[in-house]
Amino acid sequence: MKNQRILVISSANIDFVQRMRRIPYAGETVVENDIGYSYIPGGKGANSAITFARLGADCVFTCKLGRDSNAKRLTSIYRNEGIDIRYILEDPEVPTGLASILVEENGKNRIIVYPGANMTMTAAEIEEPFTCYPEAVYMQLEIPDEAILEAARRAHEADIPVFIDAGPARLDFPLKELGRVEIFSPNESETRIFTGIAPTNEETTLRAAIRLSTLVDAKYIVIKLGERGAFIYDVKGKEYYVVPAEKVEAVDTTAAGDVFTAAMVYVYLQNGNIVSAVKYATCAAAISVTRAGASSSIPTRAEVIAYARKKKAEESGEAAPAADDKTTGDEEMNEI
Ligand code: ATP
Ligand code: RIB
Repeated sequence: MKNQRILVISSANIDFVQRMRRIPYAGETVVENDIGYSYIPGGKGANSAITFARLGADCVFTCKLGRDSNAKRLTSIYRNEGIDIRYILEDPEVPTGLASILVEENGKNRIIVYPGANMTMTAAEIEEPFTCYPEAVYMQLEIPDEAILEAARRAHEADIPVFIDAGPARLDFPLKELGRVEIFSPNESETRIFTGIAPTNEETTLRAAIRLSTLVDAKYIVIKLGERGAFIYDVKGKEYYVVPAEKVEAVDTTAAGDVFTAAMVYVYLQNGNIVSAVKYATCAAAISVTRAGASSSIPTRAEVIAYARKKKAEESGEAAPAADDKTTGDEEMNEI
């Protein structure tokens, strides 16, 4: 199958991660001697760009970094991942974004983002990345509205599909101005913020999806529901499907949503089948939650294929075939 060129226009951060037994109460100091800390590449856009690259996509990444040591480190990591970094922007005055992440023993996280250079991206800076002739544009909401809207406008002008991972939610984001979106994908809390409806069960999730379809002109709405899986709403067909999450032991869910949306878009661009795309994404995200950190948790194409094969074999009661990197994995994408 043909690998389409995906232009990711989004955010990049360094994640300062601390793991702990429990989050301290206000005013409390907790000393966690035996639990370390780390600096890991993160940011919703970078996590998705790395996912695309590890799955084998032709990924071009535009983000805005500071002129600092974090920027140097991140750029070299993206290059080594095989990402096209020609259109990465630099702000000489504002530092690279930083996210402080607290991860509890149950894998749940709390994230505070200092956006830094991410928030200085301008609409004018979006012109050049489009000279790479992308075949799809993928964005999140962690950069300025004007940059997102300009990229959507240029994508429509070039007649290529726009994919939106709606994180982090901003009540004042002008969703209608995005124009046509192929897949719009918020998580649980983003869905609640945009619609006022908490997607706690099938009925409320359907109501929220229908409400979202009045706010954004999308072909599909895919609501990510953490360990409850994902909810697909086909806006034109007025049909919905629920894809349960994989049963795995969660170590750290940071970036699960970024991995999920990128994997879904990658497969959707290959085969146009939203259900198989979400099933594949569910496997990729499941692998990511079993590992610590953001970019450090992202699986490769071979790992997703091996996971999918094992799952299929377990379901059919047959022995799992050995993972073979020489196969394309197309069968797994279409048939998971
Ligand atoms: P994050 O902000 O932590 O990156 P998110 O809130 O955007 O993630 P989630 O809904 O938490 O997104 O997760 C995305 C997908 O990852 C889910 O739809 C599910 O398939 C998978 N996932 C998340 N948590 C778990 C879990 N505990 N066990 C198995 N799969 C999970
Ligand atoms: O979605 C996870 C990401 O959100 C983290 O890597 C952090 O940098 C924030 O952008």
